[in-house]
Amino acid sequence: MSERRFASSTREVLDSATVPRHIAIIMDGNGRWARKRLLPRVAGHKRGVDAVRATIRACIESGVRYLTLFAFSSENWRRPQDEVSFLMQLFVRALEEEVAKLHENGIRFRVIGELSRFDPGLVDLIIRAESMTADNDRLTLTVAANYGGRWDILQALQRMIAENPEKIGGFAEDDLAPYLAMNFAPEPDLFIRTGGEQRISNFLLWQLAYTELYFTELLWPEFDGAALDQAIESYRRRERRFGRTSEQLATGSQSEAASVGSSSQNA
Ligand code: IPE
Ligand code: IPE
Ligand code: MG
Repeated sequence: MSERRFASSTREVLDSATVPRHIAIIMDGNGRWARKRLLPRVAGHKRGVDAVRATIRACIESGVRYLTLFAFSSENWRRPQDEVSFLMQLFVRALEEEVAKLHENGIRFRVIGELSRFDPGLVDLIIRAESMTADNDRLTLTVAANYGGRWDILQALQRMIAENPEKIGGFAEDDLAPYLAMNFAPEPDLFIRTGGEQRISNFLLWQLAYTELYFTELLWPEFDGAALDQAIESYRRRERRFGRTSEQLATGSQSEAASVGSSSQNA
């Protein structure tokens, strides 16, 4: 199970004046980037890998500890077969070429999602990359692949119930958290979606409950360190209240007694 338990953001008051600890990104707009240049859609995916590299570098420079990237959703299988195959090959190539560099840079690599639908060769590369980088802690880079937020909640519920049948009817939110795919990370502080669309598209549904949302018209291949800094700047101007009032935050009365008093949380 998880190496470490993090308090849910619905409980803990995190200060937005600091750098976000965890950034989760929907990397959208690759196809449109390519189309604007009269290139095939897949050229946009290829360029998207450069934006990933730039974003990882910028996260390390800013002191972000967790970066989670949505690379392939459980709904993306609906795309044309050629595009799906290209994305899988791109993932394989990126793993083959980049993992050693991630490791040299002290980056821990994780994948969340339902891996059973992937080619065994790809699964093998993922497992090897995860174990090679398991002890690194400068930045945890998580790639969501064949991931869906509803799948995540459902698989967590099923495992939680199977392992604790005696508790049915009495489960609390904290009981579920260890079974979620991202049990090794705190909930995201900042969510970024490029490409202009303003939706969650079945990304981390449970974990985004109190995340600050940031949408940009930039297409993913255009995203870079400067764009990340802008998103972080926007985050730092926000007041994270987690249900409390501004006055409470100003006077520092952030005790659990003053927090959202939902019965399930206080069970
Ligand atoms: C995001 O870019 C990458 C993946 C979903 C794999 P898109 O491919 O969705 O690009 P647009 O939205 O069509 O421009
Ligand atoms: C969301 O992008 C998934 C990824 C970035 C991997 P999509 O472009 O597939 O999202 P929708 O379906 O248009 O919302
Ligand atoms: Mg898209």
